[in-house]
Amino acid sequence: MKSIAASFIAILLTVSVFAQSDYTAKAKALLAKMTTEEKIGQLNLVTPGGGVATGSVVSQDVETKIKKGQVGGLFGIFGPEKVRQAQDLAVKNSRLHIPLIFGLDVIHGHKTIFPIPLGLSSSWDLGLIEKSARIAATEASADGLQWAFSPMVDIARDARWGRISEGNGEDPWLGGQIAKAMVRGYQGKDLSANNNIMACVKHFALYGAAEAGREYNTVDMSRVKMYEYYLPPYKAAVEAGAGSIMSSFNEIDAVPATGNKWLLTDLLRKQWGFKGFVVSDYTSLNEMTNHGIGDLQTVAARALNAGLDMDMVGEGMLTTLGKSLKEGKVTMAQIDAACLRILEAKFKLGLFDNPYKYVDESRPAKDILTNETRKASREIATHSMVLLKNANQLLPLRKSGTIALVGPLADNKRNMLGTWVVAGDWTKSVSVAEGIKNVAPAANIIYAKGANISDDSMLVKNANALGVEIEPEQQSAEAMLNDALAAANKADVVVAVLGEAADMSGESSSRSDIGLPESQLNLLKALVKTGKPIVLVLINGRPLTLTWEDAHVPAILEAWAPGTEAGNAIADVLFGDYNPSGKITATFPRSVGQIPIYYNHKNTGRPYDGKGSGKFKSYYMDISNDPLYPFGYGLSYTSFSYGSLSADKHSLKGNETLTCSIPVTNTGKFAGEETVQWYITDPVASITRSVEDLKGFQKVWLQPGETKVISFKITTADLKFYNGDLKYDWEPGEFIIRAGTNSASTQSVSVQWNKK
Ligand code: BGC
Repeated sequence: MKSIAASFIAILLTVSVFAQSDYTAKAKALLAKMTTEEKIGQLNLVTPGGGVATGSVVSQDVETKIKKGQVGGLFGIFGPEKVRQAQDLAVKNSRLHIPLIFGLDVIHGHKTIFPIPLGLSSSWDLGLIEKSARIAATEASADGLQWAFSPMVDIARDARWGRISEGNGEDPWLGGQIAKAMVRGYQGKDLSANNNIMACVKHFALYGAAEAGREYNTVDMSRVKMYEYYLPPYKAAVEAGAGSIMSSFNEIDAVPATGNKWLLTDLLRKQWGFKGFVVSDYTSLNEMTNHGIGDLQTVAARALNAGLDMDMVGEGMLTTLGKSLKEGKVTMAQIDAACLRILEAKFKLGLFDNPYKYVDESRPAKDILTNETRKASREIATHSMVLLKNANQLLPLRKSGTIALVGPLADNKRNMLGTWVVAGDWTKSVSVAEGIKNVAPAANIIYAKGANISDDSMLVKNANALGVEIEPEQQSAEAMLNDALAAANKADVVVAVLGEAADMSGESSSRSDIGLPESQLNLLKALVKTGKPIVLVLINGRPLTLTWEDAHVPAILEAWAPGTEAGNAIADVLFGDYNPSGKITATFPRSVGQIPIYYNHKNTGRPYDGKGSGKFKSYYMDISNDPLYPFGYGLSYTSFSYGSLSADKHSLKGNETLTCSIPVTNTGKFAGEETVQWYITDPVASITRSVEDLKGFQKVWLQPGETKVISFKITTADLKFYNGDLKYDWEPGEFIIRAGTNSASTQSVSVQWNKK
């Protein structure tokens, strides 16, 4: 038995010789001992199944491959026992005992689930967002993991694309702030601590710009648009020290991201200085063959040449790089560079010091799904909700009287967690019915389902692809509707909980119609006809078209998929224990025909101001240009009024600082929080600019009657943009500073800013 233990210790000793030196030196020393096959083995990421297999294959013969040193990392399993077993295979059986890295799609929580990312971003609360990632890191690491396939920072301007739910909306600056907060939350200060895990920023790059909002579709855009609007969040995550990056499925400039040298080497490593490793998305390397740029050997070589380090599931690198090396299609230096980056990551994570440092059977009971983590999830969920409408102050509700609780999502646990929940257990979630009972025990609740989530067989089949999320009732639609109307007629108020099943948004969940499904809209229309006051609570993963709802329903609360504490958090908001403060981070269109629609659009040569005839102007004949709800929009139970915006200077030079200020008063009856937003317009430049760009925000808590003056300091850094030569700089001239409650409702001041 000397062999296993002794050689394991020998490896640790070899490594600990460099205990105080840098990871690169340690990794290089190990690399020098490795055969070509072992090096290529480190580039191989496998999944034995057990997670969500999003590609057409799961890995085969995983155990044998690990023992042969043909696996660098593994994802899809979790729990100390399973991780220990798999790690044993590597450190006790493979020749060099190199530990595996264990990853998982920890996207919005591990087992304590937080709101979907689009919801989290609507909180505009970077502290809470960071906290959600921190808790996810603690839970995931307690479950043996050290690598999260998150944050997903793809900018999306198209709500048909299902993965808009997984990102932070449409704004590059806010997206960057959130990306940093997430990386900080996962990685902490020191990756070698056993409760910090490595982030994997995805999907690099531009994945959210899929044509027609159809999943995995072609992306094609100008460099200026990329640099200015799509790349900033990835760059911000790199600046925050993210340890790894995942390449995306789409092409960029007619070359798939996974084999795109400009993207993975010139931009990411040379321009941005990224030092971590790049992993492909699930079989995205192999899929380059479908994209039409060659057979498996060709695309694997191309990916390595481009700067890809690790191949997720497809084993194109494992099976062809040896041959390509012999044929001179790749070099040993390239294989070494990729392998080195993966080894460095493992050193950073402390896996060579102790491959089992994340394996502690006592941790799950202490660290996972505790009262504390549930409390945090409830708090964060309340902050993510957006009050879209509240006519006649229908909300908050009294905790008494009779409430008709209606809708297919009203007494439903299955769909509270939202998309991309691998380890989370929906049976542990709180339904809205339970939450209302917890928060308002004295209220009389009459429940009726009223309708199925959808009766459209195609939609139901696709939404249920990963498990039954839409369970059609035996009862007829008419009988269900009658129950709901009977409940409504007996009630003082109707709370209708409607929306999407969890996987009606997320990966491969594009929709061409983003309204409420017909079955639910019919229910809502019938409820409205009763004349009872209706509160519409929406559970969904994307901006929906709510034009009819906005015109006919007095109160609308966008709750997203709120996570484990869904029902409690919704009830906290409905009954006023928490006064909603969320603001949407993706524009809600009036109609799907307006898509792509986003606030930071360009002016045109023929802009239409909405007044008079639009003939020969940039407009639609049949609908206004404006969205239903603009970026940054969200109401409160109280009201805020803004005083006049002022600037401390109107003419500035060079690196001076401008301070703009605006008083904000709580003019309503409830204490509440407002998110004051700052936008800048650069009306004349060498290339066309957006009509405005978000550059800052402050959250301010105000008691009724209280006023605070909010100030924003602007430097020339806030004026910079990527010009026609992709140089990041500012150009002198006029700038318009805007402040307000959302992107479409601001005051402005104009200043002149010259170089000298
Ligand atoms: C998704 C990634 C995910 C990966 C691994 C892919 O299909 O695009 O976001 O991390 O699967 O599960």
